[in-house]
Amino acid sequence: MNIPRKIRKAVFPVAGLGTRFLPATKSIPKEMLPIVDKPLIQYAVEEALEAGIETLIFISSTRKHTIYDHFSSDFELETRLSHSGKPDLLDRITDIVPDRVDRVYVTQTEALGLGHAILCAESVIGDEPFAILLADDMVKNKGAGALSQMVGLYEETGSSVIGVEEVPPERTKSYGIVGVDDTEAGHQAIHTMVEKPLPEDAPSNLGIIGRYVLDPSVFRHLHSVGKGSGGEIQLTDGIAAMLETRPVLALALQGERYDCGSRHGFIEATIKYAMEHDDMRDDVLDHMFAVLKSYGRI
Ligand code: G1P
Repeated sequence: MNIPRKIRKAVFPVAGLGTRFLPATKSIPKEMLPIVDKPLIQYAVEEALEAGIETLIFISSTRKHTIYDHFSSDFELETRLSHSGKPDLLDRITDIVPDRVDRVYVTQTEALGLGHAILCAESVIGDEPFAILLADDMVKNKGAGALSQMVGLYEETGSSVIGVEEVPPERTKSYGIVGVDDTEAGHQAIHTMVEKPLPEDAPSNLGIIGRYVLDPSVFRHLHSVGKGSGGEIQLTDGIAAMLETRPVLALALQGERYDCGSRHGFIEATIKYAMEHDDMRDDVLDHMFAVLKSYGRI
């Protein structure tokens, strides 16, 4: 078994074009779209902090500075809110990230794919295992967050871990798909990974959710995989190449997963997270009831 080390650093790729949400994403990254009142990226950062991450590494494009702005303090707004006697509003914008947590911003100068975005973090990560969170995937769980669950399995085994869930066969072409064997220890060891296969080529119906805990040797493989699905450097291909020398486990995550990279997943998450807000729940439910009635669904 590999000796587990502390997972201290997490990478957040936020340079994607977000074409499914145009025109909303013309000038802001899709990770800044809000679910109720918090941007997607903030939910992902909170999940990372809960898992003990100490350094947040954002891989963003040259055009979009809003992520940096969101995680920086805004002196003017803070002053106005503190003078307006609304401490609850002030609380919402201060301490989003505690001071002890480092933030690093790296620019991805070319849109060459997710694998390329991760390569941009190589010099910041160095030679230690690390996490990746794709903020447009949300996992809502009453207990430990998705990344905490994965870090737990990494600490138990010393192996890289990828979050997965079963997807309908017709959806395999939207995700990375893994083939697994059950191990004696009761884990699912990945033996194959394919990025966005057609249903007939998919090794299973286990789709990759955007959560990874990876051995740093993945960088070496990402340098050599070349372009894959969609003409892009794919993270899935880099991890698939690493499988020959390092074990990688699949973990079916506890919780409800929302694919907020799709418009309907985004709306589903919005409704679900609205239910957490006492001040909105009844109004939203009443509205949904009226909508369902008007469409003859109830
Ligand atoms: C990426 C990964 C894919 C994974 C998916 C999860 O695809 O390449 O393997 O299943 O995230 O959301 P993307 O959604 O960026 O096309």
